[in-house]
Amino acid sequence: MAGNWTAKKLVEKYLDFFKTKGHAIIPSASLIPENDPTVLFTAAGMHPLVPYLLSQPHPLGKRLVGIQKCLRTGDIEEVGNASHLTFFFMLGNWSLGDYFKKEAISWSHEFLTGKKWLCLDKNKIFVTCFAGDKDAPRDEESAKIWQECGIPKERIFFNSKEDNWWGPAGKTGPCGPDTEMFYDTGKQKCGPDCGPGCHCGKYFEIWNDVFMQYNKTAEGKFELLKQKNVDTGMGLERTITMLQGKTSVYETEMFKPAMDEIAKLSKNKGLETSKRIIADHLRAASFLLSEGKGIVPSNVEQGYILRRLIRRAVRQGSLLGIEQKFCGKIAKIFVKIYSEEWPQLKKYEQAIYSELDKEEERFSRVLANGIKEFEKLFRQNNGKITAKDAFLLYQSEGFPLEMTIDLAKEKGLAIDKKEFEKEFEKHQELSRKGSEQKFKSGLQDNSIETTKLHTATHLLHAALRKVLGEHAQQKGSNITPERLRFDFSYPEKLTEEQLKKVESLVNEAIQKKLPVERKETSLEQARKEGALAFFESKYVPEKVSVYTISGFSKEVCAGPHVKNTSELGRFKITKEEAVSAGVRRIKAVLE
Ligand code: ALA
Repeated sequence: MAGNWTAKKLVEKYLDFFKTKGHAIIPSASLIPENDPTVLFTAAGMHPLVPYLLSQPHPLGKRLVGIQKCLRTGDIEEVGNASHLTFFFMLGNWSLGDYFKKEAISWSHEFLTGKKWLCLDKNKIFVTCFAGDKDAPRDEESAKIWQECGIPKERIFFNSKEDNWWGPAGKTGPCGPDTEMFYDTGKQKCGPDCGPGCHCGKYFEIWNDVFMQYNKTAEGKFELLKQKNVDTGMGLERTITMLQGKTSVYETEMFKPAMDEIAKLSKNKGLETSKRIIADHLRAASFLLSEGKGIVPSNVEQGYILRRLIRRAVRQGSLLGIEQKFCGKIAKIFVKIYSEEWPQLKKYEQAIYSELDKEEERFSRVLANGIKEFEKLFRQNNGKITAKDAFLLYQSEGFPLEMTIDLAKEKGLAIDKKEFEKEFEKHQELSRKGSEQKFKSGLQDNSIETTKLHTATHLLHAALRKVLGEHAQQKGSNITPERLRFDFSYPEKLTEEQLKKVESLVNEAIQKKLPVERKETSLEQARKEGALAFFESKYVPEKVSVYTISGFSKEVCAGPHVKNTSELGRFKITKEEAVSAGVRRIKAVLE
């Protein structure tokens, strides 16, 4: 294996390779998806590309390559092992109805084994393909292409949907069979069934090529898409770990300085998993806080995940015997490691430290209160603590189960985790209805409603600036088929009068039946023409789409939008509230 690998070099190589194959580089989109109600976070490189996978033309063409910041919390309990992360970087290349299996696979093979590229031993590469089922056929085609690349049959495995199918990112949307690539580390097999996909560490998962030619509908059907796409994903942290011959992502330059500092602050030695959880969670929290979208620790949506990440880190800090506030300190190390490539970390540096600090402080109080309540319950119950008590502490005080378990242990008591889970599930059952309601709609099946609200968002943005002045700037937007939600900078609560004025400006624009026009230009030219563009990092400066609503609004935006404002109906503001210091939120509907 070639020496001297760094994450930076790997990214450069990847982009260079796909440039030689005619791909244009796209910048990473925000971790907070714009106008997509199906997920809370950008969880894969394909995610910001969904409209283009569904046939909308991309301004940079049909072959794209890039690195995307991703956040996935589905496997948060796994964090602490060698490679599971909540936040990670994903390298990817995409074909939007252009090349398909043959090119995708042979280029993957070339990049992995080519002397100029990763130079991996081709005899150690294993691959998996989709075995086929009622929704899609067995992927013999991919297997054949692998064989033509020189991978013998014995190293090609077939698996079901569970392993070899990717997507959709939400409940509905583009998806398809995939072929995954693994590298044999030379370790012993963990058992007779050990094969690529086993998590014992023998086979290192490197890359996933997805052949996105299906769309999953709300009814659970798989329809063929208009175009055949390719979506690939290579985890940067995992791959660099492998290239450097390390055994965990935490030993690479992407984590090592933070891990060293955590070890230095810890009184209790060992507990490697706790240190890893802190490093992963605080890196994720720092990047989330650097999005500039007003996301702060809270009890709902993205803010809730952010809170959970920070609190889990603080909790591990207490297990490690860290006696001082440490979150800001560790974040500072991440800012140093990453801000050259991700300057937003530097820009929002102070906000990152101060939000971490505040949440750490709050949670310390929760812990202190929880301990007091624990003692009270212990006395009231005559020296007992049940799983129900543990749940009560968790629900009312936010006191973590593991803390109750530890405290109980000190008193010679055990908490039945299963009982706790039963209590938890009972509670979940009650609240599930609410959340199902919230996530029930996909992108595709509700596209007309969301498209309308998307255009209404542009009208709202323009109207706010007409009423409040130019400092009212977009900070975030989230659209479900039922409503729009728009965050913007403004120092105080809006008056009734201001809200009325904004509402009627939007409705006037609707009544005037204004055309909505799209044109492509450079970001610089768009700015010159007065177009609003507040999410620079998302766009490729040479070529952006500008949507103009004649005489009313002009914004750089990926779309989609309606053709004429007359399609919108009546606009109504349903709520105005604060999100954080200096950021307000408006919710509105179309009737
Ligand atoms: N979207 C695919 C993945 O995340 C490439 O693995």
